[in-house]
Amino acid sequence: MEKRKKLSKRLNIIKLLLAALPTVAFGVFTIVFTLQQDASAKATREQDQEQADETNRRLIFKEYIDDMTDLLLSKRYDTNINESLLHIRVQTLTVLRNLDGARKSDVIRFLYESHLIHSNQPIKVHLNGSDLTGLKFIKSSAESCDLTDIYLPGVYGENILFEGCLLDRAVFDHAEMCGTVFQSCSLVNSTFLETNLTKAHFHDNQLFEAKFNGALLSHSSIKGGVLQGMDFTNADLYQSDIDHQVFYPLAHGGLIANIFINARHPNGSFFAIDTNDLIVDGQAQTKVCFAEVLLVSYTVIFYLSSVIKAEHCRG
Ligand SMILES: *[C@@H]1O[C@H](CO)[C@@H](O)[C@H](O)[C@H]1NC(C)=O
Ligand SMILES: *[C@@H]1O[C@H](CO)[C@@H](O)[C@H](O)[C@H]1NC(C)=O
Ligand SMILES: *[C@@H]1O[C@H](CO)[C@@H](O)[C@H](O)[C@H]1NC(C)=O
Ligand SMILES: *[C@@H]1O[C@H](CO)[C@@H](O)[C@H](O)[C@H]1NC(C)=O
Ligand SMILES: *[C@@H]1O[C@H](CO)[C@@H](O)[C@H](O)[C@H]1NC(C)=O
Repeated sequence: MEKRKKLSKRLNIIKLLLAALPTVAFGVFTIVFTLQQDASAKATREQDQEQADETNRRLIFKEYIDDMTDLLLSKRYDTNINESLLHIRVQTLTVLRNLDGARKSDVIRFLYESHLIHSNQPIKVHLNGSDLTGLKFIKSSAESCDLTDIYLPGVYGENILFEGCLLDRAVFDHAEMCGTVFQSCSLVNSTFLETNLTKAHFHDNQLFEAKFNGALLSHSSIKGGVLQGMDFTNADLYQSDIDHQVFYPLAHGGLIANIFINARHPNGSFFAIDTNDLIVDGQAQTKVCFAEVLLVSYTVIFYLSSVIKAEHCRG
């Protein structure tokens, strides 16, 4: 008797489960289907957003070029040159914030070809503070890359690339160009005064008489090409990877030595310190003392900060 009761109880449970199965299966199916739909709707939304952004960027770029062309051809451009240059600066800074790397390069090329960012011309647009993140100039068989005398002091940006470009006498003073790559470029007499070139790469460039006074070159790499007559006064080369010939060009058949006054060596030690160079208005001995204290603190702070943030450009 007991056994039969148990058996029928079990049967009842199985019947119940069987009855519930379609409902459960349907429930599971509904959940999976909904999740899948959500994912595909999300992908579609992202694609639409990307498309909308792209259309937007194209529009912004076109408006900018039209606006600039109108201005450059108008009478008020010449009669009111300072106002015009300011207008160009403001418009350019705004547009650069909203464009992708390829179009940023087009904007810079447009300004360069309009002779508005040449270091050797009196009339120029100052692009300091503009965001050039993702800027890329690459010489190809279809396109030359002549940016001789380009004037870009005080700009900032990551992932900037110049490859096979003519950049003689280019001015990048005070720019924030962490991780920038210069590959096979001609950079004769270019200037990088106090430029932040942390983690930058200079490979196979013609760097004759390039000036890196006060530049930050820690964790950078300078290899190959012509590396003579360069000035690294007050530069920081801490933990950089630099060809032996940069330090001893004469031993490698070079003709002109490079200057390293007050520079910090890759191993952390300082080159010949010329304290006079550290004082702006060399008044008294106390200043020398102060400069030395400053130098020691600077070394310690630099060392600590380099240890802390070794990997990324930002933060
Ligand atoms: C434009 O500004 C410069 C100084 O930046 C000044 O020397 C020049 O006279 C100004 N030109 C006009 C037309 O106002
Ligand atoms: C750009 O340079 C001018 C002087 O040339 C200066 O007045 C201005 O503050 C600078 N702007 C930025 C954002 O660095
Ligand atoms: C670099 O510039 C200096 C000063 O402007 C000039 O005397 C020198 O000839 C230039 N060097 C080259 C290789 O053009
Ligand atoms: C750092 O390198 C320079 C040049 O190679 C060398 O003269 C100096 O002794 C080194 N300093 C240390 C602390 O290793
Ligand atoms: C130089 O750039 C690096 C990377 O963006 C940044 O961490 C560092 O603070 C900058 N140094 C100065 C002095 O601006």
